[in-house]
Amino acid sequence: MNPIEVKNLSFQYEKNTRKILDNLELTVAAGEIVAIVGLSGIGKSTLCYCLSGIIPHVYGGIMTGHVYLNGRDTRDLTLPQIATTLGIVFQNPDNQLFSFTVEDEVAFGPENLCLPPEEIECRVTDALEKVGMLKFRHANPQQLSGGQRQLIALASVLSLQPEILIFDEAMSQIDRRGKKMILEMMLKLKAEGRTIVMIEHDLENLFVADRVLVLKDGRLAPFAGKLS
Ligand SMILES: Nc1ncnc2c1ncn2[C@@H]1O[C@H](COP(=O)(O)OP(=O)(O)OP(=O)(O)O)[C@@H](O)[C@H]1O
Ligand SMILES: [Mg+2]
Repeated sequence: MNPIEVKNLSFQYEKNTRKILDNLELTVAAGEIVAIVGLSGIGKSTLCYCLSGIIPHVYGGIMTGHVYLNGRDTRDLTLPQIATTLGIVFQNPDNQLFSFTVEDEVAFGPENLCLPPEEIECRVTDALEKVGMLKFRHANPQQLSGGQRQLIALASVLSLQPEILIFDEAMSQIDRRGKKMILEMMLKLKAEGRTIVMIEHDLENLFVADRVLVLKDGRLAPFAGKLS
């Protein structure tokens, strides 16, 4: 059984006549890093919402076909159930951050899992260390730069230690040094057997991927090096 299996997935937003996804198929094996590229507005974030159950559970629209996570249809799972296996880092960190301190932000997920306080403390420290933000532990996320907020959004997902990670252009505002650190971290996550789908616009970051696919006309195809 694969962590991600997408079968015949089509999706169109309400009041939007265009099918954003059109009979899309995707299989991602455990421990695989799959990168997805595509033109702006083509539907990459929409695909991330489908993979993470936000569609159909939060956003309305017409969805047909299936997304299976470890063999279970996302329609039959609740978002809290999905959150135990899958973490998503959104394109805009401001959709993800709502606490007054970095520490509370990163602890939020593990607290919701009702983990013991020592375990939560360990996870928060570990996640902040992984993204190089430990010294900002007591800072207010709103006072950090865009790149730093992206790192905190990443840490808040890492602290859940999900088996599947979806990164939707999660490094767009992070500087070169930070990107190098995150890419190395992704390879470590892969070595632990975790599964990663990364949406990426910076072709320089694609070297970590086992496969690169391009989203075009609602479907995925192997990426041949050119977007259009
Ligand atoms: N909530 C929504 N309701 C209606 N249409 C939407 C909604 N969200 C996105 N769209 C439309 O769906 C299309 C795909 O958007 P999406 O954000 O998935 O593209 P993207 O490939 O992630 O773009 P970008 O590269 O800019 O991040 C766009 O035409 C967008 O305007
Ligand atoms: Mg997007």
